[in-house]
Amino acid sequence: MSYSISIERTSALKQKPDFSQLGFGKYFTDHMFIVEYDDGEGWHDARIVPYQPISLDPAAKVFHYGQTVFEGMKAYKDAEGKVALFRPFKNLQRLNRSNDRLSIPAIDEGLALEALKQLVTIDESWIPTEEGTSLYIRPFVISTQAALGVSPSEKYLFMIIMSPVGAYYREGINPVSIYVEPQYVRAVPGGVGNAKTGGNYASGLKAQEEASDKGYSQVLWLDGVHRKYIEEVGSMNVFFKLADKVVTPALSGSILDGVTRDSVIQLLKYWNIEVEERAISIDELVEAYRNGTLEEAFGTGTAAVISPVGELNWQGERLILNGGQTGPLAAKLYGFVTGVQRGAVEDPFGWLLKL
Ligand code: COI
Repeated sequence: MSYSISIERTSALKQKPDFSQLGFGKYFTDHMFIVEYDDGEGWHDARIVPYQPISLDPAAKVFHYGQTVFEGMKAYKDAEGKVALFRPFKNLQRLNRSNDRLSIPAIDEGLALEALKQLVTIDESWIPTEEGTSLYIRPFVISTQAALGVSPSEKYLFMIIMSPVGAYYREGINPVSIYVEPQYVRAVPGGVGNAKTGGNYASGLKAQEEASDKGYSQVLWLDGVHRKYIEEVGSMNVFFKLADKVVTPALSGSILDGVTRDSVIQLLKYWNIEVEERAISIDELVEAYRNGTLEEAFGTGTAAVISPVGELNWQGERLILNGGQTGPLAAKLYGFVTGVQRGAVEDPFGWLLKL
């Protein structure tokens, strides 16, 4: 099937930032993708245009009721300059699962993929190749109908913007310190915890700010019912190495089905390392720490990649993991996953979509 996407190229290319000092999500490329939805007409007018502000009615539903979803994915360039996307189908499938949960009409994944390919190709010169960098891609949907009744919008915009990025955390690839959140919760069963929607992040800011005041990079959420089972960190899924096996919270409905999470599970199995997806209580982790079997912890995410955790603070007890240093398993996973992404390591799973 062929998709019709019109292209208007910018007449004023932006000056690029220093690719060795990118940080995360601060600079945006020259172009963006946009497609509109109206009840009756469906998705229409797909176009790539110069990156620019958009104009919305102040009554647009997204401002009032938060009917919006987003994705995060990345493009890479290998040593020969060939461009690839990492598992884009998984992200597009998740986008539609989030859409469904937020009562947003499904997007044709074929159209979205074509848009991604064309946009990345047009802005190819924005893909950084420095160690630890990539082109972060942010597809998102907002509800735009100007109406204050609480009901699904009759109009939407689906857009894709892109940003050359370095490490997500200011620690770079060094271990992050995490505060296990005792008071606030992120999600409850039946809620929207497994959808990638802005409200999940807005509602986490207060806890994140308080953790940051105590010197921690992120919070680790516990489940909203028992307040004892590990869920996820603000911007990543989590894994723990307990002696000779690796455990990660099961997809219970209230955590995100991370693409990097799935890739790490595949990889651990490929390496014949036992991996369990199950409920893990904070008490089990503290106990394992005390008896010396909690060897490593690390987070996984598109933005976070594989981020080692050097410390967990639970109610004032500081669990220092692997002496606060990056553990050998996290380092090996980071090397393999980023190696595949950059085309430097063979891709046994067919994760890369080469453009
Ligand atoms: C991602 O890893 O892509 C995310 O969406 C996490 C975050 C930056 C909100």
